[in-house]
Amino acid sequence: LAIRREDYVAPAWWIDTVDLTFDLDPAKTRVLNRMRLRRNPDSVGGPLRLDGDELNLARVLVDGQGASFRMEAGQLVIDNLPESFELEIFTTCCPVKNTKLMGLFVSENTFFTQCEAEGFRRITYFLDRPDVMASYTVTLRADKTAYPVLLSNGNLVDSGDLPEGRHFAKWVDPFRKPSYLFALVAGKLVAREQRITTRAGRDHLLQVYVRAGDLDKTEHAMNSLINSVLWDEARFGLPLDLDRFMIVATSDFNMGAMENKGLNIFNTKYVLANQATATDADYSNIESVVGHEYFHNWSGDRVTCRDWFQLSLKEGLTVFRDQEFSMDLCADASARAVKRIEDVRVLRTAQFPEDAGPMAHPVRPDSYIEISNFYTVTIYEKGAEVVRMMQTLVGRKGFEAGITLYFKRHDGQAVTCDDFAQAIADANLDSDLSRLLPQFKRWYSQAGTPRLAAHGHYDADARTYTLRFEQTCAPTPGQPLKLPFVIPVNLGLLDASGRELPLQLDGAADVVRGTRTLVLTESAQQFTFVGVDAEPVPSILRGFSAPVILDFDYSDAQLLTLLANDPDPFNRWEAGQRLALRSALKAIDDSAAPDAPVLDTAYIDAMAAVLRNPTLDAAFKELVLTLPSETYIAEQLPVVDPQRIHAVREAMRAQLATALFAQWEAAYDENHDTGAYTPDPRSSGRRALAGMALTFLCLAARASGDTVWPGKTLQRFKDAGNMTDRFNALSALVASGHSLAAPALARFHAIFKDEALVIDKWFSLQAGSPDRGGDVLPLVKQLMKHPDFSLKNPNRARSVIFSYCSANPGAFHRPDAAGYVFWSERVCELDAINPQVAARLARSLDRWSKLAEPYRSAAREAIARVAAKPDLSKDTQEVVNRALAD
Ligand code: ARG
Ligand code: ZN
Repeated sequence: LAIRREDYVAPAWWIDTVDLTFDLDPAKTRVLNRMRLRRNPDSVGGPLRLDGDELNLARVLVDGQGASFRMEAGQLVIDNLPESFELEIFTTCCPVKNTKLMGLFVSENTFFTQCEAEGFRRITYFLDRPDVMASYTVTLRADKTAYPVLLSNGNLVDSGDLPEGRHFAKWVDPFRKPSYLFALVAGKLVAREQRITTRAGRDHLLQVYVRAGDLDKTEHAMNSLINSVLWDEARFGLPLDLDRFMIVATSDFNMGAMENKGLNIFNTKYVLANQATATDADYSNIESVVGHEYFHNWSGDRVTCRDWFQLSLKEGLTVFRDQEFSMDLCADASARAVKRIEDVRVLRTAQFPEDAGPMAHPVRPDSYIEISNFYTVTIYEKGAEVVRMMQTLVGRKGFEAGITLYFKRHDGQAVTCDDFAQAIADANLDSDLSRLLPQFKRWYSQAGTPRLAAHGHYDADARTYTLRFEQTCAPTPGQPLKLPFVIPVNLGLLDASGRELPLQLDGAADVVRGTRTLVLTESAQQFTFVGVDAEPVPSILRGFSAPVILDFDYSDAQLLTLLANDPDPFNRWEAGQRLALRSALKAIDDSAAPDAPVLDTAYIDAMAAVLRNPTLDAAFKELVLTLPSETYIAEQLPVVDPQRIHAVREAMRAQLATALFAQWEAAYDENHDTGAYTPDPRSSGRRALAGMALTFLCLAARASGDTVWPGKTLQRFKDAGNMTDRFNALSALVASGHSLAAPALARFHAIFKDEALVIDKWFSLQAGSPDRGGDVLPLVKQLMKHPDFSLKNPNRARSVIFSYCSANPGAFHRPDAAGYVFWSERVCELDAINPQVAARLARSLDRWSKLAEPYRSAAREAIARVAAKPDLSKDTQEVVNRALAD
C-alpha cells in the first residue's frame, strides 16, 4: 500500500503533446484527450498504464483504430503498442458531484480544477506523475451565457461562437509541464487588469478574476502580484516568461492556492481584501500567498519535482522565497525582524509538534500512503529553513549565484532535492556548504527536531569564554538513530550591561564585531573565545539560524539583559519568551500552590519597560507581550494536562492585564489612531498593539468590575473604520467573556451577512472563544445548525470545526471526552465528503499519547473509533493508523 522513494523508476512512456477538448456541463462533462506518446528508451519497458479515478470511459483509439485494453487496479492498461503513436481517449465525469474538490469541480456555478498532486487523473486517463512533461493545447466549449469566461494555461489562440448559444476558447501553453500544473476555469467572472513592462523590457497582462461583486477587493492582490514580478526579477534575475498571467479566486478550495502555469487558482481568502472586510493579517497573508504562487512559476513550474518525495524541492524553496519577498518589502530592519519572528513562531508551534509526533517525516519523505497528507509544515516550513541555512552558509550573494546555477542547469527538467543542494554548493565551491554537503543533506533525510544543549564556561585568569555544544535528536517513526547535523549557529556575546563584545576565536587572528556564524558538525564540539574581560551573556542562535531546540541554562538576570539589550531582535524577543515559559512551566508543575501568582515582578517590570520603550516598534512590542501559546507550552512537557496549561496561561494573562493596566491604557491611547487605513507593517503593528491593549483592558475590567473599557471597546467596535480595529474590538469583548459580546456578535453578523470571508471570522471567533464551564462545545454544535453553516465548504467547515478542535485546546480537551467524540463524528462525516479536509482534521489528535489521563485513554478511543469506520479514505486511514501506532 505504501509508495516508497527507493522504488522510483522512470516512466516506460513519454507523453509529448496533449490536445484536450472539454464540453463543459456540470452533470456530465465530456473530455476528449488526444496525445502523442513514445516509448522511453531508457526505461525497463512494459505496457502503458494510465492513471484514472472516477471516470466513465467511452472510447480508446490507438492511431485512430479501436484498441484492446484492460482495467487493472483502476489503471487503464494497453499492451502491444508501437514505439510511438497517437492515443485518443474519450471520457466523461460529473463535476457537480465532485465534493472532494480534486480534479474538475463546480463552485458557485463556475468550473475550477485542482490537479496537484493527483487530481488530473480525475479529468482524463494519463501518466499522472510530475516527471512526465508535455505540451498542452486545450479547447473549452460551454454555454456562452452561463460560462462567458473560458480560461486555461498559456495563451489564448482562438475563440468564437458555436451553435445553440455555445462558444469556445482555445489555449496553448508554450511551456511543457507535468499534469499537476494543468488548469481550467469557466464561469461568470470579471477581472481587474494591469499591463506592466518589466526591467527586461517585456510587456505582460496581469489579471485577477473574481465574481462580479468582488472587484473592489482585488487591488491588494494585484499590487502584490506586481511586486512579486518585480522582486523575482530584481533579487534572483527570474523574469515573467508569459504574455499573460492570471489569478482566479474560488470560495471552495481545499488549500490556500495553486500555481498552475499562467493560471493560478486561489482560495478567496488569499485574494479578496478591502479595509472594511479584511484584517491586517489577511492583507499580509494575501501578499505572501500571491508571492508564493507567483514564485512557483520558476521554482516549481520551470523546474519541477521528479517525484512527490521531492515535494519540498519546490515548496521549501518557494516558502523561503515568499518569506524573503515579504521581508524585502519591509521598510526597515525592525519590520524584517517581526516577519522573521512570526515565521519562527509558526515553525515552533506547528512544525516542531509534527516532528515529535506520529506523523513525523523527513523533509524528503521515504514513503507515503496518500501524498495529500504530506503537504505539511515539515515539507513547507522546515523545508524553507533548510534552504535558509544554505543561504546562511554561503552568504546572500553566494546563494543568489547558486539559484542562478540551479535554474540554468535544470530549466525544463523534473529534478530532486539532491540536484538543488548540489547546485547551491557547486556555485560556492569554497563554502562550508560545499565542504560539508553530504552531511548537510541529513536535513533532508532525518526527521525530528535536533536539540542543541549549550554550556558556557568563563575562565577569569585566562580571560577566555568557552561554549560547549552537544546535539542530539530523538527517534522518529522508522528512524531510531540519528547522525549529527550541520548546524549553523549565529552567535554574539554581550557584556553584563548589554554591549556587544568583539569575538575572537582562540588561535584565529580575525576579530568579529557583532554576529559570527559557528558551524557545528559533531555531536559535541566547543569554541573558545579569547580576550574576554568578564563573564559574557551569550546570544546564541541569532535570527533562529537553525531549526533546533536550544537549551542553555540562562539565569533570569541574563535573560533580562538580553531582553533589554540584545541587538538581535529575534533573540531579544526569545529572551522574553524564555522568561514567560519558565514561569509557566514552574506554575504548571506546582500543584501545591495552584493559585499563586505565576509571573514575578522582574518579568512584569521588564514588560512594562518594553511597553514604555519609545525606540521599539509597536509590532515588536505586541510580539514580546504575547505569551507562548498553549501548544508551544505543551511541547515542553513530557505529560500534558491541557486544562492545567490553559488555566496557568489564563492566570498569566489576567496578571498582565491587572499589573500593566496603566501601560495598556497608554499603549491604547498612543496606538489606536493610525489615520487613513494602509496595511503596511508599521501601521498594522500599531493596530495590533492597540488591539492587544483592548483585550487586556477588558480582561482587567472583568476582574475589577469596571465598565468603562468594555464600553469604550463596544464603541470602538461600532465606529471602527476598518476590519482590523473592528474585529480586534469584538475579539476583546469575546475573549474577556463580557456580556456586551453577544449583542456585538449579532450586530457583526447583520452587517456582514453577505461577506462569506467575514462570516468565516464570525464563526471562527466563537468556536475559538475561551471556555467557561464547558460552554464552547454546545455553542459549536449550535453554530453547526446555523443556516450559514456548511460542511461542504472547506473554509466554513474549518471556521467552526478546526477553530474548536485544533485552535482551542482549553475547550476541546474536556474531562468528559465530549470534545473527542465530537471530533471523531466530524472526521467521519467529512471523510465521506472530502477526504483531504477530513485527514487534516484527523491530525488534531496527533499528540494524544502525551496527554495525561483521563484525556489520553479517551483520545485513543476516539481515534480507534475513526479507524474502525468502514470505507474510510486512505487519507484519513493513514493519519489515524499512524496515530494509533504511536
Ligand atoms: N502547490 C500548492 C502550494 O503550495 C499547494 C497545493 C496542494 N494541494 C493539494 N491538494 N494537496 O502553493
Ligand atoms: Zn507552494
